[in-house]
Amino acid sequence: MTLLVQSASALKEEILRLKKEKDVVILAHNYQIPDVQDVADFTGDSLGLSRQAATVPQKTILFCGVNFMAETAAIISPDKKVLLPDLEAGCSLSDSITIDELKEWKKQHPGAIAVGYVNTTAEIKSELDYCCTSSNAVNVVKAIPEDKEILFLPDMFLGSYVAKVTGRKNMHIWAGECHVHAGITPDDVREKLDSMKDTEFVIHPECSCTTPMMYDVADGKYDDKKVTVLSTEGMLNHVKKSNTKNFVVATETGILYRMRKDNPEKNFVPASEKAECQYMKMITLEKVYETLVNQKNVVTVPKEIADKARLAIDRMLAIS
Ligand code: 13P
Ligand code: SF4
Repeated sequence: MTLLVQSASALKEEILRLKKEKDVVILAHNYQIPDVQDVADFTGDSLGLSRQAATVPQKTILFCGVNFMAETAAIISPDKKVLLPDLEAGCSLSDSITIDELKEWKKQHPGAIAVGYVNTTAEIKSELDYCCTSSNAVNVVKAIPEDKEILFLPDMFLGSYVAKVTGRKNMHIWAGECHVHAGITPDDVREKLDSMKDTEFVIHPECSCTTPMMYDVADGKYDDKKVTVLSTEGMLNHVKKSNTKNFVVATETGILYRMRKDNPEKNFVPASEKAECQYMKMITLEKVYETLVNQKNVVTVPKEIADKARLAIDRMLAIS
């Protein structure tokens, strides 16, 4: 199908018309480009989007995000068609553990509970006891009996944050990372924070600055009200409620669009201008349009993997 519509606004109108005509719901992650967020029915974090995927009435979900998110939607709603505008949209974090590595790790710790971040492939999820997202990882770990050993994967910064908050000593943490968040260094953050007055700092737990910043807060270097560790949706809720006007935001820069739109009277500065996820940015308005028209980029998960993975995902959805 050739793309006849040229301007972004005409393309957006056409997408809005087509999604209604074809009864398709568009879900978009907070890191998507502004034009894509504009045509979405729901924009949110991984947990919020998984919840939407489980409950939306439409039979087709067009997922504007990365592969593991679309796979999660396909697992939760096996009777729905899940479309991803670019099937190459992957994730460095989900690539940081293979199924063989996980099986070997589990073998070394028989009886341990495997808790995996939602940023994992469907195959990895099928080997987990619990799945979690950045917004409920602490509560998922708290729900596991204290005497049980935990294997936490794949993000080491989120894992260290959860271990610190819960005080859990029997947690083994996989040494994986997201290249975007790991690239936001403690120096980037301290420099910005020290140079700006009356500023709050919101930080995603995947960032490599999370751990040293937590120690700085514990040591009294920063007022704990100044530094908060949150998921992307948690950040959006927090900045709206806060009386502070200036914020340094440590996560992928796509989140700034909604922050600024929802809070025009406040200032938002990225901790690092370089924090861009090239996988999230692979989803363009043109690809959304083409996918709506031809409905070809279908994401499927083999039934035996989906059935096993669903148990871990359902446990994640049950814990907020
Ligand atoms: P959340 O939106 O769940 O905080 O996750 C961030 C992320 O990196 C997704 O890729
Ligand atoms: Fe994966 Fe990082 Fe991109 Fe999120 S920001 S999709 S964790 S590579």
